[in-house]
Amino acid sequence: MYRFALKVYGCQMNVYDGDKMKTALKERGWTETAEEEADVVILNGCSIRDKAEQKVWSDLGRFAPRWEKERKPFVAVTGCVAQNVGRKMAARFPWVRFVSGPRHIGAVPDGLEKLLASPGETFLFLDDDPRAFIDLPGAPVERVNPWKAFVTIAHGCDNFCSYCIVPYVRGRFVSRPPEDILEEMRTLAADGVLEITLLGQNVNSYGSDFSDGYTFANLLRDGALKTGVRLLRFATSHPRDFTPDIVETMAEHSPVICPSINLPIQSGSDRILALMNRGYTVAQYRTAVSSIRSRLPGVGLTTDLIVGHPGETEDDYRESLKVLEEFRFDLVHSAAYSPREGTAAARREDQVPHREKMARLNEVNILQSRIAREINESLVGSVFPVLLDDFAPRGEGLLQGRTPSDKVVLVEAEEEMLGRFVRVEITRADNWCLSGRIVENGK
Ligand code: SAH
Ligand code: SF4
Ligand code: F3S
Repeated sequence: MYRFALKVYGCQMNVYDGDKMKTALKERGWTETAEEEADVVILNGCSIRDKAEQKVWSDLGRFAPRWEKERKPFVAVTGCVAQNVGRKMAARFPWVRFVSGPRHIGAVPDGLEKLLASPGETFLFLDDDPRAFIDLPGAPVERVNPWKAFVTIAHGCDNFCSYCIVPYVRGRFVSRPPEDILEEMRTLAADGVLEITLLGQNVNSYGSDFSDGYTFANLLRDGALKTGVRLLRFATSHPRDFTPDIVETMAEHSPVICPSINLPIQSGSDRILALMNRGYTVAQYRTAVSSIRSRLPGVGLTTDLIVGHPGETEDDYRESLKVLEEFRFDLVHSAAYSPREGTAAARREDQVPHREKMARLNEVNILQSRIAREINESLVGSVFPVLLDDFAPRGEGLLQGRTPSDKVVLVEAEEEMLGRFVRVEITRADNWCLSGRIVENGK
């Protein structure tokens, strides 16, 4: 049978799609191998910023020497980057013989087998209809991590924020039926998964396209009560739709539903938020945060922030620094605005110069590092329940897990502790993670 290698870039939705492709191919008898031995290398790429796309372009270039010698491997470009620039990639590199956007993931296994049976051809699955969707059924039982899994609950996005490519590459917003999601969660829990993260670009508008009134809060409740999963997380939430019933459900189903929320603010200036088409003001964002913090003490609150959106003045940018000081987020995913062809913001003439964007980004990161360190230091001495779910990226004998509020904690522990719940006392803090010691072993 055929051999494949898979490389995933981008957000958790791409990781989930990658796991699903891997599961489907293995079910057909394919084997996963190193890139050097593969018949097909799948690059499941992202398009959110120019840098994300460039990563795939430069990876593609690496195949030239082997292709010259052996006419192998074929490269399949999938994911958002494929929908956006896959045609260009296939035109430029003869080894790119398969291109499939994220809305055609169901076409991948058959398509790859056809490709290997007819090596002269190139296959493009890029229906431009933003409503077209070919799903790949089945839970991602072949995963990067045995204890944690992602489950996408809604595809696409209809918000069309000025700067964002996602609605163009992932298409229209469609919620998956709750029965499918809950069944997938049960399958994963039965497969040993302890923590599930529900995914969508805007999870809290889940169900807005249903006629029966079933909401995201309903799904959270059913997920916590009816699937056997021990920890439930979700991302990403949109500030405009973060309704009190969600906060209430989180509080009622603690500790299964973890008190951690990613609520992207994107800018601290109402003028820029309007240009971005975000649909809320800073005052409305503040109201959502107050209701979250009053009902969920100890909640981890993270955000995304863009600096240098077209038209952003020095004053607008100062407002963004101010909201970082005001809300004191646990983590900020900050980015310099990157023009995406075809989006509204890319067409504006008042682009902020590159150097200015970089200077703003740098200042944001310095400020946020200080805030994160202060928050983390205040946690030294606290004890949290933690699922040890992976090896620490660096450091012999260290495992990692997350606090309920989603902060990474490193502890000294043997490999056989992987997949166990323990209680950890925080002993040290830096900007990005905590260190601790196990004070009580769990199961
Ligand atoms: N659905 C989420 C975000 C999805 S994209 C939301 O509404 O917030 C993930 C993050 O990438 C965004 O939050 C944004 O901060 C960043 N991003 C998206 N497009 C960008 C662009 N053109 N330039 C820079 N950052 C961008
Ligand atoms: Fe992009 Fe806005 Fe949709 Fe988020 S809500 S995916 S930023 S268009
Ligand atoms: Fe990237 Fe697509 Fe996710 S553009 S951030 S992989 S939705």
